[in-house]
Amino acid sequence: MTVVAIDGPAGSGKSTLARNLARALGFVFLDTGAMYRALALAAARRGIDPDDADGLTQLAQQIEIRFTPDGDSQRVLLDGADVSEAIRTPEISDLASRISVHAGVRRAMVAQQRALAQQAHGVVAEGRDTTTVVFPEAAVKLYLDASPQERARRRQQQLQQQGIDEPYEQVLQAILERDARDAARADSPLRIADDAIVIQNDGWSKEQTFEYALELCRERLGMV
Ligand code: DC
Repeated sequence: MTVVAIDGPAGSGKSTLARNLARALGFVFLDTGAMYRALALAAARRGIDPDDADGLTQLAQQIEIRFTPDGDSQRVLLDGADVSEAIRTPEISDLASRISVHAGVRRAMVAQQRALAQQAHGVVAEGRDTTTVVFPEAAVKLYLDASPQERARRRQQQLQQQGIDEPYEQVLQAILERDARDAARADSPLRIADDAIVIQNDGWSKEQTFEYALELCRERLGMV
């Protein structure tokens, strides 16, 4: 199994890049953030407190998260039900970041992520710890970044496309809080792996980021 792993903060363009790379390379796209989001949604629906580490760990072991192809994209299934839109709200973004600090939750999620990857011949995984913890042996490791202001602008546009209007200042504040929590947690914090290639993509279009990363992948994977 060949793995391309991409980490970075919220709004750095990881999901778009990972989806496009997966398509170009003929690999499976593994959106680990969607898995933490699905768990957050399941916890919210059951009224489990974000600080209840044991309750959340149990829940993480019980639920089944799957991805199914949908045209150019994919749907996220939580215990068989489509939650693709429900997991993309600002509330679930915040909750996913809160519940993902617990070591037990992370162990359960990492096990599921590795199991999903095992089924494929090639995987493009993205998240916060895919280069450092989930797939430390990945063939290609990328760290995507952009300034908080640029990431907030992108996130605001994304939300608008979903019909969610949030003021820029509020989106920026939420991004800064989430960055701080994701990078400060004790277990698997967001950090740049020693052997990762950093792509700072302020002012780059999605296409530019994609072309640059695809070239890197082809080189590293010997596909040129
Ligand atoms: O990438 P995203 O915005 O969909 O991720 C939502 C949250 O899930 C993020 O703020 C932290 C958590 N997460 C994580 O802890 N580890 C990952 N590999 C992916 C996401």
